[in-house]
Amino acid sequence: MSKRYTITAALPYTNGPIHIGHLAGVYVPADIYSRYLRLTGNDVAFICGSDEHGVPITIKAKKEGVTPQDIVDKYHAIIKTSFEDFGISFDNYSRTSAKIHHKTASEFFKNLYDKNEFVEEVSEQLYDADANQFLADRFVIGTCPKCGYEEAYGDQCENCGTSHNATDLINPKSAITGNAPTLKETKHWFLPLNKHEAFLKEWILKGHKKDWKPNVYGQVKSWIDDGLRPRAVTRDLDWGIPVPVEGGEGKVLYVWFDAPIGYISATKEWAKRVGKNWEDYWKDKNTKLVHFIGKDNIVFHCIIFPSILKAEGSYILPENVPANEFLNLEGNKLSTSKNWAVWLPDYLIDFPNQQDVLRYALTANAPETKDNDFTWKDFQARNNNELVAIFGNFINRVAVLTNKYYGSEVPEPSDYKTIDEETLAALKAYPAVISSSIERYRFREASQELMNLARLGNKYLADEEPWKKVKDNPERVKTIMFVALQIASALSVLSEPFLPFTSHKLKGILNSFNNSWSDVSSSDILIPSGHTLQEGKAELLFKPIEDSEIEKQLEKLEASKKANEAAKKTVEPQKEEITFDDFTKLDLRVGTIIEAEKMPKTKKLLVLKVDTGIDIRTIVSGIAESFKPEEVIGKRVTVLINLAPRKLRGTESQGMILMTEDETGNLVFVNPDTSTSHNNGIEEISNGLKIS
Ligand code: 2FM
Ligand code: ZN
Repeated sequence: MSKRYTITAALPYTNGPIHIGHLAGVYVPADIYSRYLRLTGNDVAFICGSDEHGVPITIKAKKEGVTPQDIVDKYHAIIKTSFEDFGISFDNYSRTSAKIHHKTASEFFKNLYDKNEFVEEVSEQLYDADANQFLADRFVIGTCPKCGYEEAYGDQCENCGTSHNATDLINPKSAITGNAPTLKETKHWFLPLNKHEAFLKEWILKGHKKDWKPNVYGQVKSWIDDGLRPRAVTRDLDWGIPVPVEGGEGKVLYVWFDAPIGYISATKEWAKRVGKNWEDYWKDKNTKLVHFIGKDNIVFHCIIFPSILKAEGSYILPENVPANEFLNLEGNKLSTSKNWAVWLPDYLIDFPNQQDVLRYALTANAPETKDNDFTWKDFQARNNNELVAIFGNFINRVAVLTNKYYGSEVPEPSDYKTIDEETLAALKAYPAVISSSIERYRFREASQELMNLARLGNKYLADEEPWKKVKDNPERVKTIMFVALQIASALSVLSEPFLPFTSHKLKGILNSFNNSWSDVSSSDILIPSGHTLQEGKAELLFKPIEDSEIEKQLEKLEASKKANEAAKKTVEPQKEEITFDDFTKLDLRVGTIIEAEKMPKTKKLLVLKVDTGIDIRTIVSGIAESFKPEEVIGKRVTVLINLAPRKLRGTESQGMILMTEDETGNLVFVNPDTSTSHNNGIEEISNGLKIS
């Protein structure tokens, strides 16, 4: 029976392009699910959009020296295009900067405020005086009070997923200046999660949510069992949706308050466009709401957003939140800052028109129950051994043989043998098998069942060998090809959720009308005798990926690794920062060493006479282990001449010679005539003492 579904996919932050982790964790499974539901005759609103508020955007803008608006405009366009390129079939991809969203989120807040659903409180919050900024969310990093992870954000620990208040962090540090924050009073509105604890217990723990994925249910249960506390839903920031109530001037809504409401605004925008009633998708008890997210978003979708919806009172709550775990890349965590990622725009440059290969590799290896690793070798194997060797090979054989034997016309079968009947019966079972996996959010399993159907076709042809029988038994071959064509036709339908581009191509090859999902199990004939395939359309669905293509990708990653290692080596400043005024105090001159002798009874000291251009002065320098006196005479050197004089072994030293190290670590003069490639870390050797 047809049902109504509202399917949401986490709104990506618009602070960068999206990568394979996003695709595998959220968008491909959500798309498979939505496409499947549409194919099975349901009414679907598949909703997403750009998450354009919040600190990540502000941080990126600061880093690039542009405005947050510039950042969101740039990445909204890039992300939207990537989704289109990869066939993610959103009914609406909106953005939280849209007017309709500001209005919807603002009214939502005002409504809850009027209903006294918030607690208004002046409290001390973390503050960075140098940056003149309250430190919320990603502006502050510290140790997670729950799991001890040292890089937890102010609102959430990405390691254990817990959400907390910034003041709960241990050893907090400003992400802007690195300073330890101070505390400053400010007023905010809090959502009293403690007040919603009973409802959440009833709804999730006692309700039917035990069929949620164990990772989701387990996390949520443990948070509820630990006890919930009020969470601020406003922020002292200047980027976001203004707090629409008295006293809210200069403050904005917390990004995690407004973003999930983005699902509602995007639905409104879509409904208006297509002439539907948005409330059917959010307020009708018969509508099923499903949120596709990554595991770091669980707390927001299973605890905070449902509490907000419940407090409002007229909305439905999610039926399921099938959160995925994380995808790693070649053994390491995906990381934007370390450029350890496969970015979708880059993928398409290197593998044009091969979106389905990535969709398939990511689905077949999806991080559904545990974190998983994406490797380029696995990607190549999925393509070459499955898509090319099984799926593509089967279709190619069917198309080529039908063309060759029957001028592309589907032949008339004669009597079925047992193998034909068994094969057709097995074929009819696939829709239910794949449906069952998809409906339980087991997309990996579902993708493997689809491949099994192609395997069935391949095996059937390999066992029946029509190419050997065509001369002696042409009638039998007609039946074989008819059966094979039914499998090909079934594949064109059942592959659509997983491989939409391939399905489209295959329907083109078969010149096929649209069978529905249920036709595959209920109808005896999916492609009738006499129907003509598209001539000359025996194009290959997939092509092998060469080792060299994979090596190129691995080299790219190797380059990122090297760049990261080099970046790590950049030594932190060893001394306190000085001002320009401090620097101008230094009187640095170019001088020439005119005399040099060893200081008696010492190993390290040379007594030098240096002509500084204004005078000749004595400088005691601790370089005797690196230079003989005769080697340094005549050398031009840089001298600090206004260093307070100092006696060393009875000789007054009247300045300092600047030294540094060359690439091999040898001590060299900071030579005014030739620059060393390495003089960014000047070693100060003065008066026989290394001052570092
Ligand atoms: O983690 C993220 O990328 C968030 N931008 C997800 C937001 S989902 C939502 F809108 F609720
Ligand atoms: Zn933690």
